[in-house]
Amino acid sequence: MAETGPRAFITGHPVSHSRSPMIHGHWLQHYGIAGSYERAPATPEEFPAFVAALRDGSSGFVGGNVTIPHKEAAFALADQVDETGRLIGAVNTLWRDDGTVRATNTDAYGFAANLDAASPGWDRGRSATVLGAGGASRAVLYALIERGFAEIRLLNRTHGRARELADRFGSGVRPVPFADLQASLSGTDLFVNTTSLGMGDAPAPEIDFSVMAKGAVATDIVYVPLETPFLAMARRAGVMIVDGLGMLLHQAVPGFEIWFGRRPAVTAELRGLVERDVMGKS
Ligand code: ATR
Repeated sequence: MAETGPRAFITGHPVSHSRSPMIHGHWLQHYGIAGSYERAPATPEEFPAFVAALRDGSSGFVGGNVTIPHKEAAFALADQVDETGRLIGAVNTLWRDDGTVRATNTDAYGFAANLDAASPGWDRGRSATVLGAGGASRAVLYALIERGFAEIRLLNRTHGRARELADRFGSGVRPVPFADLQASLSGTDLFVNTTSLGMGDAPAPEIDFSVMAKGAVATDIVYVPLETPFLAMARRAGVMIVDGLGMLLHQAVPGFEIWFGRRPAVTAELRGLVERDVMGKS
């Protein structure tokens, strides 16, 4: 760990599983920047004091990342949240600015940048089917609306949460009953899974992805395993698939630039490094 230079953190409860130190550590080394990116676990009880110490400078950090379960608390505690963070209602990136704590959410950027890199033109369509209505779904909806998707079919096991997000994001987002998943794919240009469905005990429902529009793309927020049950089904139906690992890499870009002053590149080398780690542990 460098003794001098800007220090950034990843805080959460727990943070031991996070791959962010590997990503930022790679960039610090690659660009020869004297700085550090450190794990700084905080319980929910400790988190307000953690933010206060960032604000008054006593922690010595210039900023950092916030992960589960602090993203909503960070939104509430920050002094200035940008428009993206406000609409998503949760933030993952903090930085100290003139004695205040500023915040944004880079998940929407990471989601779109991953698709831009892996499947250029993915945003030419106008309709999308999104599964899930949690925090990750809010970032995805933000990105899709920004990219001009005018008809977003939103499905969630708990239908009320899909309705809440439709109210939050406006008339372009239409809540669709969970049981209508297959029908919701007809003619759609993009499928996004933001849930852990199919990873645990509950199997992913069998879906025929071939009903999607010509040139459609399917992607998943989950990246362990890289090819999730949904992506495997989509690939078998001849639909272009994009895994979620790139979102993890791209969402780290804006934070690194804010804390360390250099916009880093998401390279094949970085992806290989993180991919080997994911494969080793999955
Ligand atoms: P995140 O921030 O990762 O989105 P979250 O806010 O806990 O996490 O949301 C998890 C999402 O996965 C929700 O949409 C959840 O559905 P509910 O709102 O009905 O809970 C969905 N999910 C998790 N396990 C699921 C399962 N076995 N079947 C269907 N949906 C599931």
